[in-house]
Formats: sequence, C-alpha cells, structure tokens
Amino acid sequence: MSERHHWPSKWIFILAAIGSAAGLGNLWRFPYLAYEHGGGTFLLVILLANLIVGIPLLLAEVAIGQKMQKAAPDALEKIKKGYRYIGWTMVTFGFFVVSYYVAVMAWGLDYLVGSFSLPTWAADTKTYFFSNILQLSEGPGTMGGFSLPVLISAVVAWIAIYFCVWKGVKSVSKVVVWTATLPFLFLAILIVRAVTLDGASTGLQLFFVPDWSTLGNKELWLAAFSQVFFSLSVAFGIMMAYGSYQPERSELTKSIVYITIGNFLVSFMSGIVVFGTLGYMALQQGVGVADVFTGGPGLAFVVFPQAISLLPSFSVLFAVLFFLMFFLLALDSAFSLVEGLSAPFRDRYPHLSNKKISFYVCLAAFLVGLLYTTKAGLYYLDITDHFLVNYGIIIMGFLLSIIVGWVWQGDRLKKFINEHSDWKVGSLWSLAIKFVIPLFLIILFVINVINEFKAPYEDYPVWSLLVFGLGPLVLAPIIAVIVDKLTTPKKEETSWSDDITPDPPSSFE
Ligand code: PHE
Repeated sequence: MSERHHWPSKWIFILAAIGSAAGLGNLWRFPYLAYEHGGGTFLLVILLANLIVGIPLLLAEVAIGQKMQKAAPDALEKIKKGYRYIGWTMVTFGFFVVSYYVAVMAWGLDYLVGSFSLPTWAADTKTYFFSNILQLSEGPGTMGGFSLPVLISAVVAWIAIYFCVWKGVKSVSKVVVWTATLPFLFLAILIVRAVTLDGASTGLQLFFVPDWSTLGNKELWLAAFSQVFFSLSVAFGIMMAYGSYQPERSELTKSIVYITIGNFLVSFMSGIVVFGTLGYMALQQGVGVADVFTGGPGLAFVVFPQAISLLPSFSVLFAVLFFLMFFLLALDSAFSLVEGLSAPFRDRYPHLSNKKISFYVCLAAFLVGLLYTTKAGLYYLDITDHFLVNYGIIIMGFLLSIIVGWVWQGDRLKKFINEHSDWKVGSLWSLAIKFVIPLFLIILFVINVINEFKAPYEDYPVWSLLVFGLGPLVLAPIIAVIVDKLTTPKKEETSWSDDITPDPPSSFE
C-alpha cells in the first residue's frame, strides 16, 4: 500500500485549517451578526462560544483523523462498525456546500474583474448585482437559463480549485502558504484605510461598545454558537481529513488553539473594515449607520462596493484588494471541502492517482453546481444553504459529539489527545463533548424546526424548499450508502477493510 502523504510541517497544517475555517462566513456573516446582536456583547459571546463548543469539537475531529490516519468514513468505521455511513454523509453534505459556495466565488470574480471599471456601475450597485451579474429571474419556478457572467466565472473558479488540490496534500501545502496568509495582509491594509476615514468611529463604536441589554436574548446566544460551528468548518469531515494528514505523533491542542485564534482574527479584522467603512458611508450620505447595514450577499456585493466607490482616492485599488481577498478567503474553504471528499476515495483507492480522484470530485461538484449559475441560482443557493447550515451541520455535529463522548467508551480520545499535547485537556473538555455540545445542538435543532413550520423560509414556495432544501438532506445518506457499496472492494481483493478493524472496547485493553 502506498504511504499516506503528510503535511510538510505543523505550521502548514495550521495554515490549511485556518484557510478552511476563514471564509465568507467571517467576511459577511460575522459583521452582520455582530451588528444585529449588540456589537461588543456579540464579540464576548463569540469568544465564549469558541471556548465552549468550537475548540472542543474541532479538537475531537482533528484528533480522530490523526489517530486513525484515515478520512471521515474509514476513521469513524474504526470507532464502530457501520459508522462509515455517517462519515460518507458528512462529506456528501460538504459536496453540496461546495457546489453552491463556488457560485458565490464566481460572483466575487465578476466583481474583481468589474472593479477596474468601478466608477461606471458603482452609482447603482443593486442593479449591477441583481440585473447585470445574477440576471435574477422572478422566482425559483423560473430557471431562465444560465447567467453567463456567473457560469464563466464558476468555470474559472473550478479550474483554480482543481489546480490547488490536484496533487492532494502536496499541492494544498504549497497553496495555503499564500491563500491563508495574504488575507491577513489585505485586511490590515483595508483596516488602515477604514479607520482613518471620517465617520469611521461611529461605525466602530457599534462594533466594540457592548449593548448589555442584548445579553439576555436567546437569539444572540444561538446566533453566536451556530456561527462558531459554521465558521470552524467542523462536522463536514474536512478537519478529519486534514488531521489524518498529520503524522500520528503530532502535537494537538496548541495547534487547535492557534487555528481558532487565527479564524477569530479574520472575523475580528473583517468587522473593523466593514464597520469603519460603513460608518464613513453613512456620514457621506447623511444617514445613520443602521440605515446602510445589511446582511448576507447584500453586504459584500451591494453595500460595500458602494462604500468603496465613495472613497476619496484609490477606490479602484481598494475594490480590487477587497475582491481579491474575497476570492482567496473563499478559495481555501472551497478546496478544503473538495479535499474532505477526495480523501476518503484515496483511502479506498490508494493506487489511483490524486489527479484523477480530484478531477472527478471537482467535475461532479461543478455539474451539480450548474444549478446555482442559472438565473434562479440565488434562490436555490439561499435555500440549500439555509437547510444545510441549520440542519445538516447540526445533525452531524451532534452525532460527532455523541460518538466521541458516549459511543467511544473509556475517554479513549482524551487519552490520545493528552499523549500528544503540550496542553492537556481535562474534565471540562469531556463535559463539553458529552453534555454541553449535544444539548445545545438539540435545542438549536428544535428551535429551527419550530421556526420552519411557522412560515416557509423567506416565503419561498414550499415545493422549492422541499426540492432544494430537504432534497440534499435526504439524498446525502442515500448517496453515502451507494458510494460506500461502490467503493468497497470484494472480499478476495486486497481490502482496505483489513486495515480498519474497529478498535476493541477499552475494557479489553
Ligand atoms: N468556514 C467557512 C466560512 O466561514 C465555510 C465552510 C463551512 C467551509 C464548512 C467549509 C466547510 O466561510
């Protein structure tokens, strides 16, 4: 059997993991959530959420990969027979995420190119986004063919992704040195620009000064905790794959803390850029900051470009910088999702070339993703994202914590972690994995389901929620079983399964 490839150093692993974690969620979701939930208060709760659920679960996921030296399906199979299906389901969810994530990257690329002619469209960024780029149809029922600018950029983005992952760990190691570090530099430049603008301080006040009255709102806590989940890219099998590329004896806890801090920094720095710049724009337009703030794609594609166009000088340069950073942040998150799915195939077919496996994974995700490059793509994307983030990731996170905390008896993962860490984990970690995380996820799940039944999400027609939302959730486990059957060698062939006999129960040790 061919040798498993490993990261060339611990720092490359850390950069790759930060690259996966820091993405669009940090750039446009975090600032908006902070704005909605009381600024400084949200910052504090996010820090707490990182400590209570982020670090423990990320540590567990990476440690499983590192101990088993396998990607999600076969790593979980080693814990208990039959659990490989959970692993396949995780990475299939990741497959659906990347298929639409790339459409958003494509919009960003269109803006990057468009930045050079910023002054012409900046007067009406809304029309530019919805009519010129998306060519948005009137609803999910009207697909309306492809939006050419989105389709072309999606092809370009996929080519970029493919060449990042084509040699597996080897090429990823080279790429993350740039994709995970340059955004920090670009953010630093944008921060200097933002905080020196007139009016910036009004915006920054909103970001930093706590509004203690929000502390009792359950919405604030739920938003902060679920943001941490999505942001750290846990429960998609990515971190298990990345952990499995670490040599078995690598140090664990310190690296996980560095990854969490790096990811938080990207959110924090994005917050300063967004709040500062919007404070300036509000002043220019003579309105309150609240009147210009918006969430989701609207922030990056409508409001922020408008703010940049109002800059006193070098607006084109700052627009290019912003969308280049946007692309880099999204790129290493996107290819980590591809890696999460390619790694299990490599476990099953160690003799097949990386290039082939990566190619077919990219091609499949591109083909599914074509849906999101149509004129109704934004609707489909919004629906799929809502369901995967609010249900898919929560179910998988729940299962992961139950497996580590309850199924895998005798605190065996904790022993492994402590044998390989400079900073030891104690009963607080077990408490988080066994009780706090599962309990919190159940509460979140129930609240989400109740909200779902109160009114159809964003008033989309129910059929579209069933097809594009529930569809991927139901399909993923079915695909998991089929892919597993197709990739399991017959008994007489050399079998990967010889290699993954489950560990004996701890009482046998
Ligand atoms: N963490 C990434 C972000 O914040 C998104 C992501 C989620 C990437 C899940 C991979 C897996 O944008």
